Amino acid sequence: MVAPIIVALGGSLFYGDHDVKTWLGQLRQTIVHLEGNGRKLGFVVGGGKPAREGIQLASHVLTDRYKLDEIGIAATRLNATVLQSMLSDIGCKVSQEIPTTTELAAQMLNEFDIVVMGGTTPGHTTDAVSVAFARDAGAAHVIIATNVSHVYTADPRTNPDAEPLEVLSLNELQEITGKEAMGPGQSAAVDPIAVNLAIECGLKIGVLDGRDIRRIEDAVEGRPFEGTLVHPE
Ligand code: UTP
Repeated sequence: MVAPIIVALGGSLFYGDHDVKTWLGQLRQTIVHLEGNGRKLGFVVGGGKPAREGIQLASHVLTDRYKLDEIGIAATRLNATVLQSMLSDIGCKVSQEIPTTTELAAQMLNEFDIVVMGGTTPGHTTDAVSVAFARDAGAAHVIIATNVSHVYTADPRTNPDAEPLEVLSLNELQEITGKEAMGPGQSAAVDPIAVNLAIECGLKIGVLDGRDIRRIEDAVEGRPFEGTLVHPE
C-alpha cells in the first residue's frame, strides 16, 4: 500500500477572509485528483471561528480547561463533518465515520482512500492530532496547512522584524514555539505539543498557506512547495 499523507487543515481556512466557497471547490477538485492518482489521504480539520466563539461562550460559565477544550473539539468535528460530507457527496471513497482516535483513523485508511477527522482529547490542537495520525498511519511526513505563508523567526503579528524561514530542523522549530501546551483556543504557527511529538517520532513537517490550494497539492505530490520544510535532525 502507498504510504498515506496526512494533512492538517487549519480552521481559519474554513472561516477566513478569502473566498471560502471558491477555496472549497478547489479543495474538492484537488482531492478528487489526488485520489485518482492513487493517494491515501488523512485530513485533520481545525476548529476555526466556531471553536473560538464556542470557547468564549462557554468561558462565561465554565472555567475548567478540560471542558473548554471539549467545546473546541466539538467545533473541529463540526468542520470535519462538512469536509467529509462534501467528499462523500461527489463519490470519494471516504469513511462516513469521523474517528475520535488517531489509531482508529489509521486503521480506517486501510479500508478507505480518505479519512477525515477533527480533534481527539483535551490538551493539544489538531496540529498534534495530525502528527499522531501520521505516526499511527506510517506516514513519513505531515502537512500543516494554515493561513500564514511560512514559519517565521518570531510571531509576525507582533514582531515586525520576524522573517520567514524556508527550511529548519524540528529542534529549531521547538526553540521558536517553546515546549509548553497552549490554553484552550490559543493559536501559534505550530502547536508546541505537535513539535514535541514530531521530534519523538522523527517526522518531517511541511507548513504552508493552505488558502493557495496549489501549495497543498505540491506538498502532497512531493514537489517543491512554497512554505517551510521542517526536518528531523
Ligand atoms: P484547533 O486545532 O482548531 O486549534 O483546535 P488552532 O490550531 O489554534 O486553530 P485553527 O484550527 O488553526 O484555527 C481548537 C481548540 O480545540 C481544542 C483546543 O482548545 C484548541 O485550542 N482541541 C482541539 C483539543 O483540546 N484537542 C484536540 O485534539 C483538538
